[in-house]
Amino acid sequence: MKHIYIETYGCQMNFADSEIVASLLQKEGYEVVSDINDADYVLINTCAIRDNAEQRIRKRLRELRAVQQRHPQLRIGILGCMAERLQSQLMVEEENVSFVVGPDAYRQLPSILARVSEQGVKAAETELSTTETYADIEPVRLGSNGISAYISIMRGCQNYCAYCVVPYTRGRERSRDPETIVAEARSLFEQGYKEVTLLGQNVNSYRWKTEGEEVGFPELMARVAEISPMLRVRFATSHPKDLSDSLLEVMAKYDNICKCIHLPVQSGSDRILKLMNRHYDSAWYLDRIAAIRRYMPDCSITTDVIAGFCTETEEEHQMTLEMFRKVRYDYAYMFKFSMRPNTYAEKHLQDDIPEAEKTRRLEEIIALQGQIALENNRREVGKIYEVLVEGESHRSKERLFGRNSQNKVIVFDRHDVMPGQYVKVKVVDCTAATLLGELCTQ
Ligand code: SAH
Ligand code: SF4
Ligand code: F3S
Repeated sequence: MKHIYIETYGCQMNFADSEIVASLLQKEGYEVVSDINDADYVLINTCAIRDNAEQRIRKRLRELRAVQQRHPQLRIGILGCMAERLQSQLMVEEENVSFVVGPDAYRQLPSILARVSEQGVKAAETELSTTETYADIEPVRLGSNGISAYISIMRGCQNYCAYCVVPYTRGRERSRDPETIVAEARSLFEQGYKEVTLLGQNVNSYRWKTEGEEVGFPELMARVAEISPMLRVRFATSHPKDLSDSLLEVMAKYDNICKCIHLPVQSGSDRILKLMNRHYDSAWYLDRIAAIRRYMPDCSITTDVIAGFCTETEEEHQMTLEMFRKVRYDYAYMFKFSMRPNTYAEKHLQDDIPEAEKTRRLEEIIALQGQIALENNRREVGKIYEVLVEGESHRSKERLFGRNSQNKVIVFDRHDVMPGQYVKVKVVDCTAATLLGELCTQ
Protein backbone atom coordinates (compact mmCIF):
# COMPACT_ATOMS: atom_id res chain seq x y z
CA MET A 1 0.00 0.00 0.00
CA LYS A 2 2.84 2.41 -0.57
CA HIS A 3 2.90 3.52 -4.19
CA ILE A 4 2.38 7.19 -4.98
CA TYR A 5 1.69 8.88 -8.27
CA ILE A 6 2.28 12.66 -8.37
CA GLU A 7 0.72 15.05 -10.85
CA THR A 8 1.81 18.70 -10.85
CA TYR A 9 0.09 21.82 -12.21
CA GLY A 10 0.97 25.50 -11.96
CA CYS A 11 4.28 27.30 -11.62
CA GLN A 12 7.86 26.08 -11.29
CA MET A 13 7.57 26.39 -7.53
CA ASN A 14 4.89 23.74 -7.52
CA PHE A 15 7.15 21.44 -9.54
CA ALA A 16 9.95 22.06 -7.02
CA ASP A 17 7.51 21.32 -4.18
CA SER A 18 6.47 18.01 -5.75
CA GLU A 19 10.14 17.00 -5.64
CA ILE A 20 10.19 17.80 -1.92
CA VAL A 21 7.01 15.79 -1.41
CA ALA A 22 8.54 12.82 -3.26
CA SER A 23 11.62 13.05 -1.06
CA LEU A 24 9.63 13.26 2.19
CA LEU A 25 7.55 10.22 1.25
CA GLN A 26 10.42 8.13 -0.13
CA LYS A 27 12.15 8.47 3.24
CA GLU A 28 9.11 6.81 4.80
CA GLY A 29 9.21 3.89 2.39
CA TYR A 30 6.82 5.13 -0.29
CA GLU A 31 7.71 4.56 -3.90
CA VAL A 32 6.98 7.05 -6.71
CA VAL A 33 5.42 5.26 -9.71
CA SER A 34 5.02 6.56 -13.23
CA ASP A 35 1.86 4.61 -14.10
CA ILE A 36 -1.27 5.72 -12.28
CA ASN A 37 -2.60 2.15 -12.42
CA ASP A 38 0.20 1.06 -10.07
CA ALA A 39 -0.63 3.74 -7.50
CA ASP A 40 -2.21 3.47 -4.07
CA TYR A 41 -2.26 7.26 -3.70
CA VAL A 42 -2.60 9.95 -6.33
CA LEU A 43 -1.26 13.32 -5.20
CA ILE A 44 -2.34 16.29 -7.31
CA ASN A 45 -0.28 19.41 -6.70
CA THR A 46 -2.58 22.20 -7.76
CA CYS A 47 -2.61 25.85 -8.84
CA ALA A 48 -5.23 28.47 -7.98
CA ILE A 49 -3.89 31.46 -9.90
CA ARG A 50 -6.82 31.72 -12.34
CA ASP A 51 -10.26 30.15 -12.36
CA ASN A 52 -9.41 28.00 -15.39
CA ALA A 53 -6.48 26.48 -13.46
CA GLU A 54 -8.95 25.25 -10.85
CA GLN A 55 -11.51 24.08 -13.42
CA ARG A 56 -8.82 21.94 -14.98
CA ILE A 57 -8.22 20.18 -11.65
CA ARG A 58 -11.95 19.59 -11.13
CA LYS A 59 -12.17 18.05 -14.60
CA ARG A 60 -9.18 15.84 -13.81
CA LEU A 61 -10.89 14.68 -10.60
CA ARG A 62 -13.94 13.62 -12.64
CA GLU A 63 -11.69 11.65 -15.00
CA LEU A 64 -10.03 9.94 -12.05
CA ARG A 65 -13.36 8.44 -10.98
CA ALA A 66 -12.93 5.84 -13.72
CA VAL A 67 -9.49 4.89 -12.39
CA GLN A 68 -10.93 4.63 -8.87
CA GLN A 69 -13.62 2.29 -10.11
CA ARG A 70 -10.94 -0.07 -11.39
CA HIS A 71 -8.82 0.37 -8.23
CA PRO A 72 -11.19 0.91 -5.29
CA GLN A 73 -8.32 1.17 -2.79
CA LEU A 74 -6.92 4.25 -4.58
CA ARG A 75 -6.86 7.42 -2.45
CA ILE A 76 -6.69 10.89 -4.01
CA GLY A 77 -5.12 13.86 -2.25
CA ILE A 78 -5.00 17.51 -3.28
CA LEU A 79 -1.83 19.47 -2.50
CA GLY A 80 -0.71 23.00 -3.33
CA CYS A 81 -2.50 26.28 -3.79
CA MET A 82 -6.02 25.04 -4.47
CA ALA A 83 -5.77 22.88 -1.33
CA GLU A 84 -4.78 25.95 0.66
CA ARG A 85 -7.46 28.13 -0.84
CA LEU A 86 -10.38 25.75 -0.39
CA GLN A 87 -9.18 23.64 2.56
CA SER A 88 -11.57 20.93 3.80
CA GLN A 89 -14.42 22.42 1.77
CA LEU A 90 -12.74 20.81 -1.24
CA MET A 91 -13.45 17.33 0.15
CA VAL A 92 -17.11 18.22 0.49
CA GLU A 93 -17.30 19.53 -3.07
CA GLU A 94 -15.22 16.72 -4.55
CA GLU A 95 -16.29 13.44 -3.00
CA ASN A 96 -13.44 11.37 -4.37
CA VAL A 97 -10.81 13.46 -2.58
CA SER A 98 -9.60 11.84 0.66
CA PHE A 99 -7.08 14.41 1.87
CA VAL A 100 -6.11 18.04 1.36
CA VAL A 101 -2.64 19.31 2.27
CA GLY A 102 -1.42 22.91 1.94
CA PRO A 103 2.07 24.00 0.77
CA ASP A 104 3.54 24.39 4.27
CA ALA A 105 2.22 21.09 5.66
CA TYR A 106 4.01 18.54 3.47
CA ARG A 107 6.05 17.15 6.38
CA GLN A 108 2.78 15.73 7.70
CA LEU A 109 2.06 13.78 4.52
CA PRO A 110 3.40 10.41 5.75
CA SER A 111 1.17 10.47 8.81
CA ILE A 112 -1.81 11.74 6.81
CA LEU A 113 -1.47 8.96 4.23
CA ALA A 114 -1.24 6.38 7.00
CA ARG A 115 -4.28 7.78 8.78
CA VAL A 116 -6.35 7.94 5.60
CA SER A 117 -5.63 4.30 4.71
CA GLU A 118 -5.64 2.70 8.14
CA GLN A 119 -8.59 4.51 9.65
CA GLY A 120 -10.47 5.19 6.44
CA VAL A 121 -10.90 8.84 7.42
CA LYS A 122 -10.56 12.05 5.47
CA ALA A 123 -7.92 14.60 6.49
CA ALA A 124 -7.05 18.25 5.87
CA GLU A 125 -3.85 20.01 6.96
CA THR A 126 -3.62 23.54 5.64
CA GLU A 127 -1.85 25.57 8.28
CA LEU A 128 0.59 28.08 6.80
CA SER A 129 3.97 28.65 8.43
CA THR A 130 6.18 31.71 8.78
CA THR A 131 9.38 29.66 8.87
CA GLU A 132 9.03 26.46 6.81
CA THR A 133 11.46 26.37 3.85
CA TYR A 134 12.11 22.60 3.62
CA ALA A 135 15.79 23.63 3.63
CA ASP A 136 16.94 20.25 4.95
CA ILE A 137 15.07 18.16 2.38
CA GLU A 138 17.04 16.97 -0.62
CA PRO A 139 14.47 16.92 -3.43
CA VAL A 140 13.99 13.78 -5.54
CA ARG A 141 14.29 15.05 -9.11
CA LEU A 142 11.09 13.98 -10.86
CA GLY A 143 10.94 13.69 -14.66
CA SER A 144 14.38 15.26 -14.80
CA ASN A 145 16.63 15.30 -17.85
CA GLY A 146 19.63 15.15 -15.50
CA ILE A 147 20.84 18.46 -16.93
CA SER A 148 18.77 21.19 -15.40
CA ALA A 149 17.08 21.47 -11.98
CA TYR A 150 15.05 23.90 -9.88
CA ILE A 151 16.12 25.07 -6.43
CA SER A 152 13.55 26.79 -4.26
CA ILE A 153 15.28 29.66 -2.40
CA MET A 154 12.32 31.30 -0.72
CA ARG A 155 8.62 30.74 -0.13
CA GLY A 156 5.54 32.88 0.13
CA CYS A 157 4.74 36.40 -1.01
CA GLN A 158 3.39 39.44 0.76
CA ASN A 159 3.20 41.93 -2.06
CA TYR A 160 -0.58 41.60 -2.23
CA CYS A 161 -1.04 42.58 -5.85
CA ALA A 162 -4.76 43.33 -6.05
CA TYR A 163 -5.55 40.45 -8.44
CA CYS A 164 -3.40 37.72 -6.91
CA VAL A 165 -4.18 34.71 -4.69
CA VAL A 166 -0.57 33.74 -4.00
CA PRO A 167 -0.20 35.66 -0.69
CA TYR A 168 -3.24 33.72 0.56
CA THR A 169 -2.16 30.31 -0.72
CA ARG A 170 1.56 30.51 0.05
CA GLY A 171 1.69 32.66 3.17
CA ARG A 172 4.36 35.05 4.42
CA GLU A 173 7.61 35.54 2.59
CA ARG A 174 10.62 33.69 4.03
CA SER A 175 14.10 32.97 2.73
CA ARG A 176 16.08 29.77 2.96
CA ASP A 177 19.55 29.45 4.53
CA PRO A 178 22.10 30.26 1.78
CA GLU A 179 24.45 27.47 2.93
CA THR A 180 21.79 24.89 2.12
CA ILE A 181 21.10 26.48 -1.27
CA VAL A 182 24.77 26.51 -2.29
CA ALA A 183 25.18 22.95 -1.00
CA GLU A 184 22.20 21.78 -3.05
CA ALA A 185 23.53 23.47 -6.19
CA ARG A 186 27.00 22.00 -5.63
CA SER A 187 25.59 18.53 -5.12
CA LEU A 188 23.58 18.84 -8.36
CA PHE A 189 26.71 19.93 -10.23
CA GLU A 190 28.63 16.96 -8.81
CA GLN A 191 25.85 14.67 -10.03
CA GLY A 192 26.35 16.02 -13.55
CA TYR A 193 23.71 18.75 -13.70
CA LYS A 194 24.72 21.76 -15.80
CA GLU A 195 22.04 24.28 -14.94
CA VAL A 196 20.14 25.39 -11.84
CA THR A 197 17.20 27.80 -11.64
CA LEU A 198 16.76 29.59 -8.31
CA LEU A 199 13.08 30.00 -7.58
CA GLY A 200 10.94 32.41 -5.60
CA GLN A 201 7.81 34.53 -6.17
CA ASN A 202 10.01 37.59 -5.86
CA VAL A 203 13.67 36.56 -5.78
CA ASN A 204 14.90 40.16 -5.37
CA SER A 205 13.44 40.13 -1.86
CA TYR A 206 15.62 37.16 -0.92
CA ARG A 207 17.27 38.05 2.39
CA TRP A 208 18.93 35.82 4.95
CA LYS A 209 19.70 37.45 8.25
CA THR A 210 21.45 35.91 11.21
CA GLU A 211 23.82 37.38 13.75
CA GLY A 212 26.78 38.75 11.85
CA GLU A 213 25.53 37.59 8.46
CA GLU A 214 23.24 39.16 5.94
CA VAL A 215 22.93 37.70 2.47
CA GLY A 216 20.84 39.34 -0.24
CA PHE A 217 19.96 37.97 -3.65
CA PRO A 218 22.94 39.40 -5.60
CA GLU A 219 25.37 37.82 -3.14
CA LEU A 220 23.53 34.51 -3.19
CA MET A 221 23.70 34.51 -7.02
CA ALA A 222 27.44 35.19 -6.88
CA ARG A 223 27.97 32.33 -4.43
CA VAL A 224 26.08 29.88 -6.63
CA ALA A 225 27.85 31.13 -9.76
CA GLU A 226 31.22 30.57 -8.07
CA ILE A 227 30.57 26.81 -7.80
CA SER A 228 31.82 26.33 -11.36
CA PRO A 229 31.89 28.27 -14.63
CA MET A 230 30.38 25.12 -16.14
CA LEU A 231 27.20 25.46 -14.07
CA ARG A 232 24.63 27.79 -15.56
CA VAL A 233 22.55 29.79 -13.10
CA ARG A 234 19.06 31.13 -13.82
CA PHE A 235 16.41 32.65 -11.58
CA ALA A 236 12.70 33.51 -11.56
CA THR A 237 10.82 35.74 -10.87
CA SER A 238 11.93 39.34 -10.28
CA HIS A 239 9.53 42.05 -9.23
CA PRO A 240 10.24 45.32 -11.12
CA LYS A 241 9.85 47.43 -7.97
CA ASP A 242 13.09 46.07 -6.52
CA LEU A 243 15.24 44.97 -9.43
CA SER A 244 18.51 46.48 -8.21
CA ASP A 245 21.61 47.61 -10.05
CA SER A 246 23.69 45.44 -7.76
CA LEU A 247 21.91 42.34 -9.11
CA LEU A 248 22.55 43.51 -12.68
CA GLU A 249 26.22 44.05 -11.80
CA VAL A 250 26.57 40.50 -10.50
CA MET A 251 24.77 39.13 -13.56
CA ALA A 252 27.09 41.01 -15.88
CA LYS A 253 30.18 39.85 -13.98
CA TYR A 254 29.60 36.10 -14.27
CA ASP A 255 29.40 34.50 -17.73
CA ASN A 256 27.60 31.50 -16.27
CA ILE A 257 24.73 33.60 -14.90
CA CYS A 258 22.31 33.43 -17.79
CA LYS A 259 21.46 36.63 -19.58
CA CYS A 260 17.72 36.44 -19.27
CA ILE A 261 15.40 38.37 -16.97
CA HIS A 262 11.74 37.65 -16.43
CA LEU A 263 10.22 40.97 -15.39
CA PRO A 264 6.41 40.83 -15.22
CA VAL A 265 4.95 44.17 -16.33
CA GLN A 266 1.22 43.31 -15.92
CA SER A 267 0.06 46.57 -17.55
CA GLY A 268 1.40 49.59 -19.40
CA SER A 269 -0.99 52.02 -17.71
CA ASP A 270 0.06 53.88 -14.57
CA ARG A 271 -3.50 54.07 -13.27
CA ILE A 272 -3.95 50.30 -13.66
CA LEU A 273 -0.54 49.55 -12.13
CA LYS A 274 -1.53 51.61 -9.12
CA LEU A 275 -4.89 49.86 -8.87
CA MET A 276 -3.03 46.55 -9.09
CA ASN A 277 -0.83 47.65 -6.15
CA ARG A 278 2.34 46.95 -8.14
CA HIS A 279 4.40 49.76 -6.52
CA TYR A 280 5.96 51.00 -9.78
CA ASP A 281 4.83 53.02 -12.77
CA SER A 282 5.64 52.71 -16.46
CA ALA A 283 8.53 55.21 -16.19
CA TRP A 284 10.15 53.17 -13.40
CA TYR A 285 9.66 49.97 -15.36
CA LEU A 286 11.25 51.45 -18.49
CA ASP A 287 14.13 52.78 -16.38
CA ARG A 288 14.78 49.23 -15.16
CA ILE A 289 14.67 47.95 -18.76
CA ALA A 290 17.23 50.62 -19.70
CA ALA A 291 19.42 49.55 -16.77
CA ILE A 292 19.30 45.90 -17.89
CA ARG A 293 20.33 46.91 -21.40
CA ARG A 294 23.11 49.14 -20.02
CA TYR A 295 24.68 46.35 -17.98
CA MET A 296 23.95 43.54 -20.44
CA PRO A 297 23.17 44.58 -24.01
CA ASP A 298 22.65 40.92 -24.93
CA CYS A 299 20.17 40.13 -22.14
CA SER A 300 16.78 38.77 -23.15
CA ILE A 301 13.73 40.12 -21.36
CA THR A 302 10.45 38.28 -20.84
CA THR A 303 7.26 39.26 -19.08
CA ASP A 304 3.76 38.48 -17.76
CA VAL A 305 0.78 40.63 -18.65
CA ILE A 306 -2.90 40.73 -17.71
CA ALA A 307 -5.55 41.86 -20.20
CA GLY A 308 -8.83 43.35 -19.00
CA PHE A 309 -8.14 44.07 -15.34
CA CYS A 310 -11.00 45.80 -13.50
CA THR A 311 -11.95 49.15 -15.08
CA GLU A 312 -9.23 48.98 -17.77
CA THR A 313 -10.21 51.32 -20.61
CA GLU A 314 -9.42 50.87 -24.29
CA GLU A 315 -6.85 53.63 -23.96
CA GLU A 316 -5.16 51.87 -21.06
CA HIS A 317 -5.10 48.65 -23.05
CA GLN A 318 -3.39 50.58 -25.85
CA MET A 319 -0.76 51.68 -23.29
CA THR A 320 0.01 48.02 -22.65
CA LEU A 321 0.51 47.47 -26.38
CA GLU A 322 2.75 50.55 -26.42
CA MET A 323 4.80 49.10 -23.57
CA PHE A 324 5.26 45.90 -25.59
CA ARG A 325 6.45 47.94 -28.58
CA LYS A 326 8.92 49.85 -26.43
CA VAL A 327 10.43 46.91 -24.59
CA ARG A 328 10.26 44.36 -27.42
CA TYR A 329 10.04 41.29 -25.19
CA ASP A 330 11.55 38.01 -26.29
CA TYR A 331 8.72 36.07 -24.73
CA ALA A 332 5.55 36.85 -22.79
CA TYR A 333 3.04 34.92 -20.72
CA MET A 334 -0.24 36.62 -21.52
CA PHE A 335 -3.44 36.21 -19.49
CA LYS A 336 -7.01 37.35 -19.30
CA PHE A 337 -7.85 38.79 -15.90
CA SER A 338 -9.60 36.26 -13.70
CA MET A 339 -11.27 37.49 -10.51
CA ARG A 340 -10.03 35.49 -7.52
CA PRO A 341 -11.93 35.10 -4.26
CA ASN A 342 -10.67 37.10 -1.24
CA THR A 343 -8.24 39.27 -3.17
CA TYR A 344 -8.33 43.07 -2.91
CA ALA A 345 -9.87 43.18 -6.40
CA GLU A 346 -12.70 40.89 -5.37
CA LYS A 347 -13.44 42.90 -2.25
CA HIS A 348 -13.16 46.40 -3.70
CA LEU A 349 -13.31 46.38 -7.51
CA GLN A 350 -15.70 45.31 -10.24
CA ASP A 351 -14.84 42.68 -12.83
CA ASP A 352 -16.43 44.96 -15.39
CA ILE A 353 -14.70 44.12 -18.66
CA PRO A 354 -16.92 41.71 -20.63
CA GLU A 355 -15.38 38.33 -21.43
CA ALA A 356 -15.46 38.97 -25.20
CA GLU A 357 -13.65 42.26 -24.71
CA LYS A 358 -10.99 40.66 -22.51
CA THR A 359 -10.51 38.06 -25.24
CA ARG A 360 -10.14 40.71 -27.92
CA ARG A 361 -7.55 42.64 -25.89
CA LEU A 362 -5.63 39.49 -25.08
CA GLU A 363 -5.61 38.43 -28.73
CA GLU A 364 -4.30 41.83 -29.74
CA ILE A 365 -1.43 41.52 -27.28
CA ILE A 366 -0.69 37.97 -28.44
CA ALA A 367 -0.62 39.02 -32.09
CA LEU A 368 1.69 41.94 -31.40
CA GLN A 369 4.02 39.85 -29.26
CA GLY A 370 4.17 37.13 -31.95
CA GLN A 371 5.30 39.72 -34.45
CA ILE A 372 7.92 41.20 -32.08
CA ALA A 373 9.30 37.76 -31.14
CA LEU A 374 9.72 36.89 -34.81
CA GLU A 375 11.47 40.19 -35.54
CA ASN A 376 13.75 39.72 -32.52
CA ASN A 377 14.61 36.19 -33.66
CA ARG A 378 15.37 37.33 -37.19
CA ARG A 379 18.05 39.59 -35.71
CA GLU A 380 19.69 36.50 -34.22
CA VAL A 381 20.40 34.98 -37.64
CA GLY A 382 24.15 34.89 -38.24
CA LYS A 383 25.07 34.98 -34.52
CA ILE A 384 26.98 32.22 -32.78
CA TYR A 385 25.85 31.03 -29.34
CA GLU A 386 27.02 28.61 -26.73
CA VAL A 387 24.18 26.13 -26.35
CA LEU A 388 23.57 23.72 -23.49
CA VAL A 389 22.11 20.65 -25.21
CA GLU A 390 19.01 19.30 -23.49
CA GLY A 391 17.75 16.49 -25.69
CA GLU A 392 16.34 15.28 -28.99
CA SER A 393 14.11 17.60 -30.96
CA HIS A 394 10.46 16.56 -30.69
CA ARG A 395 10.15 16.47 -34.47
CA SER A 396 13.24 14.45 -35.44
CA LYS A 397 15.73 12.11 -33.76
CA GLU A 398 18.38 13.46 -36.11
CA ARG A 399 18.18 16.84 -34.43
CA LEU A 400 18.95 18.08 -30.95
CA PHE A 401 17.69 21.08 -29.07
CA GLY A 402 19.21 23.22 -26.37
CA ARG A 403 19.15 26.77 -25.07
CA ASN A 404 21.51 29.68 -25.22
CA SER A 405 22.20 31.89 -22.22
CA GLN A 406 19.22 34.05 -23.27
CA ASN A 407 16.98 30.97 -22.79
CA LYS A 408 16.09 30.76 -26.48
CA VAL A 409 15.57 27.28 -27.86
CA ILE A 410 17.93 26.37 -30.71
CA VAL A 411 17.46 23.24 -32.86
CA PHE A 412 20.34 21.79 -34.88
CA ASP A 413 21.57 18.56 -36.60
CA ARG A 414 22.99 16.27 -33.98
CA HIS A 415 26.24 14.96 -35.52
CA ASP A 416 27.87 13.18 -32.56
CA VAL A 417 26.79 15.63 -29.87
CA MET A 418 25.20 14.33 -26.65
CA PRO A 419 22.65 15.97 -24.33
CA GLY A 420 24.40 17.74 -21.43
CA GLN A 421 27.23 19.05 -23.62
CA TYR A 422 27.97 22.70 -24.33
CA VAL A 423 28.38 23.36 -28.06
CA LYS A 424 28.75 26.40 -30.30
CA VAL A 425 25.85 26.83 -32.72
CA LYS A 426 25.40 29.38 -35.48
CA VAL A 427 21.84 30.62 -36.02
CA VAL A 428 20.79 30.21 -39.66
CA ASP A 429 17.01 30.57 -39.56
CA CYS A 430 14.10 31.04 -37.15
CA THR A 431 10.42 30.98 -36.34
CA ALA A 432 8.75 33.19 -33.70
CA ALA A 433 9.40 30.48 -31.08
CA THR A 434 12.61 28.71 -32.15
CA LEU A 435 16.01 29.38 -33.62
CA LEU A 436 17.41 26.95 -36.18
CA GLY A 437 21.15 26.51 -36.12
CA GLU A 438 24.19 24.73 -37.46
CA LEU A 439 26.83 23.18 -35.25
CA CYS A 440 30.12 25.05 -35.47
CA THR A 441 33.16 22.82 -35.88
CA GLN A 442 35.63 23.92 -33.22
N1 SAH B 1 5.33 36.35 -8.45
C1 SAH B 1 5.25 36.57 -9.81
C2 SAH B 1 4.03 36.07 -10.51
C3 SAH B 1 3.33 34.86 -10.05
S1 SAH B 1 1.80 34.50 -10.82
C4 SAH B 1 5.31 38.06 -10.02
O1 SAH B 1 4.86 38.82 -9.22
O2 SAH B 1 5.78 38.46 -11.05
C5 SAH B 1 2.21 34.51 -12.53
C6 SAH B 1 1.43 35.49 -13.34
O3 SAH B 1 0.06 35.15 -13.36
C7 SAH B 1 1.43 36.91 -12.85
O4 SAH B 1 2.59 37.59 -13.18
C8 SAH B 1 0.22 37.49 -13.51
O5 SAH B 1 0.53 37.99 -14.79
C9 SAH B 1 -0.71 36.30 -13.67
N2 SAH B 1 -1.84 36.38 -12.76
C10 SAH B 1 -1.83 36.36 -11.41
N3 SAH B 1 -3.07 36.48 -10.92
C11 SAH B 1 -3.90 36.57 -11.99
C12 SAH B 1 -5.31 36.75 -12.15
N4 SAH B 1 -6.12 36.84 -11.10
N5 SAH B 1 -5.82 36.80 -13.41
C13 SAH B 1 -5.01 36.71 -14.48
N6 SAH B 1 -3.67 36.56 -14.38
C14 SAH B 1 -3.12 36.50 -13.17
FE1 SF4 C 1 1.18 37.57 -6.82
FE2 SF4 C 1 2.15 39.99 -6.82
FE3 SF4 C 1 3.15 38.18 -5.15
FE4 SF4 C 1 3.60 38.00 -7.75
S1 SF4 C 1 4.31 39.64 -6.41
S2 SF4 C 1 2.98 36.36 -6.40
S3 SF4 C 1 1.72 38.73 -8.66
S4 SF4 C 1 1.10 39.03 -5.10
FE1 F3S D 1 -0.30 28.66 -9.08
FE2 F3S D 1 0.34 28.58 -6.56
FE3 F3S D 1 2.22 28.82 -8.38
S1 F3S D 1 -1.39 29.62 -7.41
S2 F3S D 1 1.19 29.94 -9.99
S3 F3S D 1 0.91 27.09 -8.11
S4 F3S D 1 2.23 29.72 -6.35
